[in-house]
Amino acid sequence: MANAPHPLFVTLPYKQERAAPDFTTNEDKYPETLVRHFIKHYSKKGDKVFDPFAGLGTTLFEAEKLGRAPYGIEADRDRYEWVAAQMENWTAMRHDDAFKMDKHDFPKFDLVLTSPPFMAASHKWNPLYNGDPKHAGYDVYLKRMTAIFKKLPPLMKKGATLIVHVDNLLIGHRYTPLVRDMADAVSKSFDLKSEIIVAWDTPPAADYKHTHCLVFKKA
Ligand SMILES: C[S@@+](CC[C@H](N)C(=O)[O-])C[C@H]1O[C@@H](n2cnc3c(N)ncnc32)[C@H](O)[C@@H]1O
Repeated sequence: MANAPHPLFVTLPYKQERAAPDFTTNEDKYPETLVRHFIKHYSKKGDKVFDPFAGLGTTLFEAEKLGRAPYGIEADRDRYEWVAAQMENWTAMRHDDAFKMDKHDFPKFDLVLTSPPFMAASHKWNPLYNGDPKHAGYDVYLKRMTAIFKKLPPLMKKGATLIVHVDNLLIGHRYTPLVRDMADAVSKSFDLKSEIIVAWDTPPAADYKHTHCLVFKKA
């Protein structure tokens, strides 16, 4: 199945299967259903799967359950420790800035599946720098996102797939076309192949009925 073309529209159940730890919430976590779907389609048993913004570990836990070898980076210490403590091969999870992914002794990856931190264009707080005011602003965020994804191709096998989960944002009346902007940022280092719309069969909110997954290939 790994090489069969993927439809541009799929419907999946929306369900947060793993409870968030006490110190945080599930609000920036993508559902296991989405992760399982893409891991099964774009990789096979034994493949190495990486998430440079590992968060609460959804990619890593699902990859491990499906017989893939999971690797991850997470900048937040509490999240890193919570995920690593539950992994069979916990040394494959690293506490660091994704920008430093090239400093780690990772093997070459077959699939990268990630949901980077989102930022609204009207906000100053840049999540890639944990809100450090020295790095405020949407332009700085996009520039850093570009720089982070530029580090990724040498860590991936030839022809490997990168899937970036991302949403457009509407905060009040201010709209951020983050799917387009993320596609532009990542396309500086990858070939954009398709945009898959994932519709939720049981939407968690009236204004969250679908999401986007951008599929890239190592150039
Ligand atoms: C959208 S969440 C990922 C959620 C994850 N997909 C899950 O299901 O749990 C983005 C994560 O990126 C982390 N993060 C933010 N800036 C980072 C950076 N520079 N390097 C690595 N991780 C970072 C945040 O702490 C957050 O946990």
